[in-house]
Amino acid sequence: MKKNPAKRKRSYLSIAIGCFILGFVAMIAFDWMWDATSTNEACMACHVHEETDNAWKKSIHGGNNKTGVITDCAECHLPPKGTWGHFTAKTRMGVKDIWAYLTKDSADFNWEAKKELAHAQKIISNESCMKCHTNLFPQGVNDDAVKAHLYFEENHEKLDLQCISCHLDAGHYMPNYKHGKVEGPVVLDTSIRYDSATTVTTFQNFTETVPGTPITINMVAIPGGTFMIGSPKKESFRQDDEGPQREVKLTRFFMAETEVTWNQYWAFYNETMSEGRTPPSKIYANNNRPDVDAVSGPTPPFGFPDQGWGMGSRPAITMTHYAAQTFCQWLSLKTGKKYRLPTEAEWEYAARGGTEGAYFFEGSPKKYTNEGFMKRVFGIDTTQINGFVIYMNNSLGKTQEPQKVAANPFGLKNMLGNVMEHCADKYSADAYSKWQDGVQDPVCNEGEEYVVRGGSYADDASLLRCAARGHTDSEEWLKTDPQNPMSIWWYSDIKGIGFRIVCEVPAGVN
Ligand code: HEC
Ligand code: HEC
Ligand code: HEC
Ligand code: HEC
Repeated sequence: MKKNPAKRKRSYLSIAIGCFILGFVAMIAFDWMWDATSTNEACMACHVHEETDNAWKKSIHGGNNKTGVITDCAECHLPPKGTWGHFTAKTRMGVKDIWAYLTKDSADFNWEAKKELAHAQKIISNESCMKCHTNLFPQGVNDDAVKAHLYFEENHEKLDLQCISCHLDAGHYMPNYKHGKVEGPVVLDTSIRYDSATTVTTFQNFTETVPGTPITINMVAIPGGTFMIGSPKKESFRQDDEGPQREVKLTRFFMAETEVTWNQYWAFYNETMSEGRTPPSKIYANNNRPDVDAVSGPTPPFGFPDQGWGMGSRPAITMTHYAAQTFCQWLSLKTGKKYRLPTEAEWEYAARGGTEGAYFFEGSPKKYTNEGFMKRVFGIDTTQINGFVIYMNNSLGKTQEPQKVAANPFGLKNMLGNVMEHCADKYSADAYSKWQDGVQDPVCNEGEEYVVRGGSYADDASLLRCAARGHTDSEEWLKTDPQNPMSIWWYSDIKGIGFRIVCEVPAGVN
């Protein structure tokens, strides 16, 4: 029997209408679920811990403000509603949250690490903040805010600046958090002030006290000796510029136990800070005078030279080679000793501490590198390297305090990792080939850029080998410098660069 075509048409229609209604209901339900899973209560079903919900309630946005207005979790943690970003972010986050909830042990969650700027930048977008804070210059804002926000408007794209670069505490209360940029003298502990530098009479470790400041610097006595600079051809990840290996003789010297810290660097900055308007030529000329008794030092940095990672005993970063040299000049004037940057040979000799392998501890670059498919599947055995080096796999994306790792055989910390270190030599790829075996205290003065050594917090283990060579890249590292002319003091586009000082052994020391 044949169906009546008209009837068939009607049943199609009713199916279509049915589907439409069902779809509509589903949509409403979905929308409701969508919203229901975005409420503070929904988030707090899982996030009841001190770091998150209490810290939120204590923050300006959690209701701790004059008007009592509350900003919901989702307002910050998801891009504005109705945007594609909102949809994808919510889906991604929802899946991640539920998956973690079901599969992980809550004791394993490292909330502290998630509070770091480097991580927070991945989960909070500027759009969320700007949706409510449309005017960054409302009536009554203070000068600090005006300056900082002008800087933000000019540079946020170039420098990848975010609201939370300066307002990391916006959503969850953080005691002692400071906004704003570093300007003028930086406050150091004023209860201590050394009157004189340390007198050195014997060749052993000493602690330098810098007159007129609260600063001390631990200096390690490095005995003179002979070593092979560079790496053998068979070393994994070796580059051509690490050879040919040469036997190098070095006179004894003192080397700082750690990279120059922010406290040490700010002491220098406070005493020597110069006006941004002084042309570089004038500064060079002044600092080069033979009778110079006070050097001109850095101009105020823009933004956060510490990247918001913290100062204190963390290594000072982003200073140019010239700034590092000027620090040594200042320190020499203050202490009456001869401080300078290490030569590349001194640096490698000190880093090796008498060892001859790729690292001064056990293990090979092949074992520690993240490169290779098998590593991705089976993970990396990092037990040894973790105890000595701050690098890609344990740095949480930023520099760390030097105390976190053990020293090398000479008693020096962070020779490998944490920050790359400026050396005195100019960089030339074939520097070693020009030296004879047995060369005494060599230094290379040919080249455009300067040698940097040791790798940084952001590097893979292959770049942290004692013999691995790097160099400054003035053009690349100053790409987005907002200052005009380009700063001779601060790099704008490289974070993991710092330096370590050496002191020549004064005459008369036995
Ligand atoms: C089903 C429980 C659950 C719910 C509901 C939940 N979360 Fe989570 N959330 C977790 C767990 C578990 C983690 C830890 C994930 C990890 O460390 O791997 C987490 C992590 C996070 C993180 C850190 C993400 C990261 O990438 O490190 C943020 C931000 C977050 N949740 C926000 C929220 C917000 C906002 C809501 C409400 C819209 C919410 N969560 C709802 C369980 C939940
Ligand atoms: C004003 C914006 C804002 C609001 C509102 C907000 N957060 Fe956050 N949230 C942040 C920022 C910024 C960070 C990263 C820095 C930090 O941890 O404080 C963060 C970090 C987090 C983290 C990871 C690290 C940590 O501190 O626990 C979780 C989880 C989280 N938020 C959940 C929530 C939940 C749940 C709510 C609602 C109760 C909420 N947030 C409300 C801005 C906000
Ligand atoms: C849903 C709207 C909303 C969102 C989203 C939002 N805020 Fe706010 N913000 C407010 C309100 C409301 C206040 C409180 C104003 C008051 O009472 O003074 C405030 C205050 C502030 C203050 C001033 C604190 C003070 O000391 O006076 C800062 C800074 C701030 N927000 C930064 C941010 C940042 C950064 C983000 C993004 C992570 C953000 N806000 C997201 C609404 C919002
Ligand atoms: C370079 C650092 C920096 C950046 C980036 C920055 N701010 Fe600020 N902001 C400040 C400083 C400094 C203040 C003054 C705070 C103080 O006095 O404690 C301030 C103050 C504020 C205030 C309070 C203003 C008032 O009414 O007194 C709000 C709101 C605010 N910022 C929102 C934002 C938002 C939203 C963004 C991103 C679009 C942002 N800020 C980016 C440094 C910054």
